[in-house]
Amino acid sequence: MSVPFVLAPLAALSHRALRQLIYEFGGCDEYFSEMLSAPSLLAANPLESYYLDAGPVPEQLVYQIVGSDPEVLAQAAALLDERDCRGIDLNMGCSAPEIVRIGAGVWWMDHPDEAFALAGKLRKAIRRHRFSVKLRLGSDENLDRLVYFCRGLEREGVDLITVHPRTSKEKLKRRARWTAVEVVKEALSIPVAGNGDIEDASQLVHRARSGCDAVMVGRAAVRAPWIFAEARALEQAEHVMAEPSTAELATAEPRDIDLLAVADRFLELLELYQPPEYFESRSKKFFLYFCENLTWAHHVRTLLGRETERRGMMWVLENYFAQESQDRHVSIPSIPIIPGPSSTVP
Ligand SMILES: Cc1cc2nc3c(=O)[nH]c(=O)nc-3n(C[C@H](O)[C@H](O)[C@H](O)COP(=O)(O)O)c2cc1C
Repeated sequence: MSVPFVLAPLAALSHRALRQLIYEFGGCDEYFSEMLSAPSLLAANPLESYYLDAGPVPEQLVYQIVGSDPEVLAQAAALLDERDCRGIDLNMGCSAPEIVRIGAGVWWMDHPDEAFALAGKLRKAIRRHRFSVKLRLGSDENLDRLVYFCRGLEREGVDLITVHPRTSKEKLKRRARWTAVEVVKEALSIPVAGNGDIEDASQLVHRARSGCDAVMVGRAAVRAPWIFAEARALEQAEHVMAEPSTAELATAEPRDIDLLAVADRFLELLELYQPPEYFESRSKKFFLYFCENLTWAHHVRTLLGRETERRGMMWVLENYFAQESQDRHVSIPSIPIIPGPSSTVP
C-alpha cells in the first residue's frame, strides 16, 4: 500500500472550500483543518461553525488546535473529540511572532517539561481519536534535542508526530532538512510524517519512498489542488509498467485541467462554505499560490488584488487567459482515482 498523502494545516487556506476542491480532483488521504484557536473554540464564536466544518470527508479530517493554556487546550481537545473526525493535532510548530509571544506554537519546543505535561493532559482529554503533534526542528538544528523532545511526547501517549524540518526562526526560504524526519523516524516507535518543500507530484512520490509513515503537502496543494491525484496517477503508472496485466490502464488519455474553471470552482466553493466577510481575504490568499501557475503571476495578483467580488476576479482571469491562452491548461496523467481513502495514516 502507498504511503498516505496529507494536506497540511494552512491558516486561512486549508478550510472546507480548499479541501472540497482537492477532493473533487480525487482527494488525499487526510486533510488538516486550519489551526483552531483553543480559547476561540471554547468561546463558541458564531464563526467557529465554519472552522468546525469537517467536510468533505469527516473521517479523514484532522482538527489542529493551537493555544498556550493547558486547561483551555484540554477542554478544546475534549470538545473536538466529541465530533466525527480522524484525529486531533496539537500545533507545536507555528513560529508566527503573535503565536510564540503568547506561549503557543513552537514556544512549547523551548519548554520541554511543560510540553510533556501538556501532551499527557491532552492524551487524557482525547479518548476517541488519534492524538498527534506537528512540530519543527526547534530553536536550532540539534537533532539529539529534537529526538529527546519527540521521545518525551511519545512517552506521554502521542500517537503520531509530523516533522516540518526547519528551525523556529527560519522562514520558508531555507530548504527543509528531510534527514531530520529520517532521524526522528528511526528513533521512535510511533508513526512519523514528513513535511516541507514538496513542489510537485513527482517530488511527492519521491518523498513517499523516503521511509516516513505519511507525507504532508502545504503550499504546493494550494497552487495545484490536483497534486495528490497526479502523484497517485504517477505511482499507478509505475505500477502499470511493472505489471503487464494492468497494461490497458496505461493507454488512458492525459487529463486536462482548465485553470480558469478551477479558479471559478474555488470561488464558488468559498461562497458556499465560508462566511461572506472572509471571501475577499481568503480568495486573495489562495491566488497568492494559485497564480504561480501563470507566466505573469505578479501582474495577475496585482489585478486580482483590486477586486473584491467573484465576478471581478473572474473577469481579470478571463482577460488574462484570452491573451495568454498557453497558460490556461495543465495536463496530468489520468489513471482513474477513486475519491476516498486509498491509504490510511496509522
Ligand atoms: C500560509 C501558511 C499557513 C500555515 N498555517 C499553519 C497552521 O495553521 N498550522 C501549522 O501547523 N502549520 C501551518 N503552516 C505550515 C505548513 O503546515 C507547512 O508546515 C509548511 O508550509 C511547509 O510545508 P510546504 O513546504 O509543503 O508548504 C502554514 C504555512 C503557510 C505557508
